[in-house]
Amino acid sequence: MNPKPVTEESIRHAVELLHQGQLVAFPTETVYGLGADASNPDAIAKVFAAKGRPADHPLIVHLASAAQINDWAEAVPEAAWRLAEHFWPGPLTMILNKKASVPMAVTGGQNTVGLRVPANPVAQQLLQAFGGGIAAPSANRFGRISPTQASHVAEELGDSVGCILDGGPCSVGVESTIIDLSDGIPAILRPGRITRSQLKAVLQTEVRLASQSKIRAPGMMAVHYAPNTMALLCPVDTLISMTDDLCAQGKVIGILAFSPEIACIPCKHLLRLPNQAEFYEAALYSALRDLDKLELDTILIEQPPDNEAWAAVNDRLSKATV
Ligand code: TXA
Ligand code: MG
Repeated sequence: MNPKPVTEESIRHAVELLHQGQLVAFPTETVYGLGADASNPDAIAKVFAAKGRPADHPLIVHLASAAQINDWAEAVPEAAWRLAEHFWPGPLTMILNKKASVPMAVTGGQNTVGLRVPANPVAQQLLQAFGGGIAAPSANRFGRISPTQASHVAEELGDSVGCILDGGPCSVGVESTIIDLSDGIPAILRPGRITRSQLKAVLQTEVRLASQSKIRAPGMMAVHYAPNTMALLCPVDTLISMTDDLCAQGKVIGILAFSPEIACIPCKHLLRLPNQAEFYEAALYSALRDLDKLELDTILIEQPPDNEAWAAVNDRLSKATV
């Protein structure tokens, strides 16, 4: 299945496929999603089959606007409306108490539902034309690197989708921030572009990190977002000395780094990413995929700074490495 340029015709076709219970891959500002009609359990089953994803891992329901929250969630707290006003459309997913009508297949058997209004114009066009909710996990095989370009989806899931809408590269490049508002103190289940400080500033309350709460989300598994090649995370000086050692042992390695010091490393497969978190994020998954295709012995990844701007990157890298 080749990616299709976005036209009125391809959007109409995608909507038709969704109504027929087929899968449609589409761009969002974070990563590409593997979409299905969220009200159709048979269509949802196809998402799980295509990804090879365990049935108890819930999916995010994408909506055209916050006005649709009440179709999917109940007992919606004031905090959710406030966050929707500030951050939607955008890279934020809210976990809320689900309405009885939401299929259990979507929520992995939980009484909560994840909702997001994406900002990407193609996602918006599709959602508005479809009218209902589109359940969409990242369009990759379970546990693998999320796709940030249409070609990534075609390579990995091409045979199982009815259509891939090509919206070009994703601007954010890492998955949405997930905040749980279903119970008590809000908790971040997955860090993303929207930071804890930004959420706290809008909510004017404490916002916990998931490690401080009992809630578990499948994306919090230790190994996730992983390349097939063994990847190690290390500070730049260790990275330089390990490169010497591994090359001396005849190993073929790849390097993903951002510091100027790495320019001197004699390595054929060295990718230098931007040293600003936002730009690094946007380039990360594509770079990991490129290195993963080279059948290297090891990928060495430079450890980013330990601060909030890099929280999403650090989270994903810690899961992609051993
Ligand atoms: O940026 C994104 O969020 C992308 C794009 C396509 O929107 N989607 C995405 O979906 O990353 P996925 O399925 O790869 O990750 C969704 C995460 C999972 O870790 C899942 O556990 C969590 O959202 N999630 C969804 N519903 C949940 C719920 N009711 N309770 C707890 N976690 C939930
Ligand atoms: Mg995913």
